[in-house]
Amino acid sequence: MPRPDIFYEPPKGEKSGLPHDPFKSFVIPRPIGWISTTSAGGQDNLAPFSQFNNVSFDPPTIMFVGHQSVYKRESKDSVVNARQTGEFVWNMSTFDTREAMNASSLESWDDEFPIAGVTKAPSRLVKPPRVAESPVQFECKVHSIVRIQGDSLVGHSDIVIGRVVAIHVKGEYITPEGLFDVLKAAPLARLGYHQYTAIREVFDMKMPFMHDDNVSASVLGGGATGVSDAELYASKDYRPIEEKLREEREHRVKSQ
Ligand SMILES: Cc1cc2nc3c(=O)[nH]c(=O)nc-3n(C[C@H](O)[C@H](O)[C@H](O)COP(=O)(O)O)c2cc1C
Repeated sequence: MPRPDIFYEPPKGEKSGLPHDPFKSFVIPRPIGWISTTSAGGQDNLAPFSQFNNVSFDPPTIMFVGHQSVYKRESKDSVVNARQTGEFVWNMSTFDTREAMNASSLESWDDEFPIAGVTKAPSRLVKPPRVAESPVQFECKVHSIVRIQGDSLVGHSDIVIGRVVAIHVKGEYITPEGLFDVLKAAPLARLGYHQYTAIREVFDMKMPFMHDDNVSASVLGGGATGVSDAELYASKDYRPIEEKLREEREHRVKSQ
């Protein structure tokens, strides 16, 4: 006999009626932002964030969300460091590095690289080191940090948005056709409860208007030979950065 359907309204304090809050197990899988930072005082930090994703691709922009630490009663170290230094690095977490990723989630004031047993690889444009065992890493400069007030101490969220200024990919994870070898990397993703998944299956599906092989080849391109997604859909905006930032501020004010 199946259970009856569930409907509940969180703003009214209503609950699902299930033994565990199912909310986090619905927006899944969430890729893991395995984030390295360096404090203003020079101490390295490593922590995983599953509230993580791409924001944009032209220019490449990502975000991770730190919930306020109940233990430390302030923003997570990763957020504090990113705020103070304007820099962070994203490292891809994979099935092979899952234990290290998990070990780095310790709420410690110490450097989590040795705690997790991973190796530091120097970055080129930013100070925080990269995780050498990770197949892909992005060096990032902070674009902005948006605070979302929560209903509890842990509910306060700092959304850290970063521009990707440099990308590292290990050559062994590129297929003979020049694609990223997803199945070899087996990127790790978070589900709800204590559940995880790793990518073990991939299938292709083109958007309906991409019937012409030339077009899809271009979408896959963007390197030396291809055209990037952005170039396909829009012309490039080469106005000075100050002008774009002013436009962003105006838009923010209007939408508040
Ligand atoms: C898989 C995984 C995902 C996590 N996702 C988040 C998250 O999205 N936001 C968050 O605040 N904490 C998250 N945590 C907990 C942080 O990793 C943990 O609080 C960490 O110690 C924060 O480190 P920091 O204070 O050095 O930044 C996650 C932990 C794990 C294991």
